[in-house]
Amino acid sequence: MPDLKGKVAIVTGCASGIGAATVRRLRADGVEVLGTDVDAARGQALCDAAGARFAVQNVSDRALWPQIVAEAVAAFGRLDILVNNAGMVSGAGIGDHDDAAMFAAWDKVLAVNLTGTMAGCRAAIAAMRDNPGGAKGAIVNIASTTAITPLPTDVGYSASKAAVRALSKSVATWCAQAGLNIRCNTVIPGATHTGILDATEAQMPGFLAMVAKTSPLNRLADPSETAAAIAFLASDECPFMTGADMLVDGGALAIHPGF
Ligand SMILES: NC(=O)c1ccc[n+]([C@@H]2O[C@H](COP(=O)([O-])OP(=O)(O)OC[C@H]3O[C@@H](n4cnc5c(N)ncnc54)[C@H](O)[C@@H]3O)[C@@H](O)[C@H]2O)c1
Repeated sequence: MPDLKGKVAIVTGCASGIGAATVRRLRADGVEVLGTDVDAARGQALCDAAGARFAVQNVSDRALWPQIVAEAVAAFGRLDILVNNAGMVSGAGIGDHDDAAMFAAWDKVLAVNLTGTMAGCRAAIAAMRDNPGGAKGAIVNIASTTAITPLPTDVGYSASKAAVRALSKSVATWCAQAGLNIRCNTVIPGATHTGILDATEAQMPGFLAMVAKTSPLNRLADPSETAAAIAFLASDECPFMTGADMLVDGGALAIHPGF
């Protein structure tokens, strides 16, 4: 178990799936957690059950980010960890829909998945550099295997996740060159059994079974398996890891297509 006891974390998109599993995992590891989500009812219930604090947040609202970070610092005295997990799909391929619908979907998914992540990094670094005892922190951004093998059916999601991967590396190297002990890494999940996939299954019966086959393990990940990787990168177990990608995809990208 990575040693996380006494650290303070913000986890976005905490009401469901990987975010909910991450809140539970970090709480079990002794971390004080501020969970945030646009879904106030589910987010509050999840955090109450896990013994975490909750705040309503749309991550794409950049003006709100400094307030969210300030709330964590006011409540717990410092900020050690940010998990930029909140995300959404847009469900639009490049030639789908008319221009109005296409650009609305594109703008929204980029605002949440990419700008929300950037704004989170920026606000967190401002707090982490003022931590008692000196600048220190760990940021974990959540991308997707679609960053590497994009979906023809979702250009905005795929592009946003590829950009999150590059964003993490830029943040990591900026912090390193600035002499800040603030690491930034990317977790790249494959098909994980959460609300995002359940919503697609509802529209496309058989989808879950189909994506399970993308992994040689022939199953979906449980969100707790992704949360374990997030907890490791957030911990002090890996001080030389920054700007790195951690695949949690059941070997999906390790196998030659068709085998
Ligand atoms: N499930 C998968 O197979 C999979 C694979 C690769 C990457 N991911 C990524 O993992 C992350 C978590 O996804 P999940 O599978 O747990 O999905 P999920 O739908 O179960 O949970 C996403 C959470 O984010 C919240 N959210 C959405 N938009 C938000 C916003 N603007 N501000 C704040 N909160 C917002 C939702 O309310 C929800 O609680 C996402 O970034 C997703 O892209 C998931």
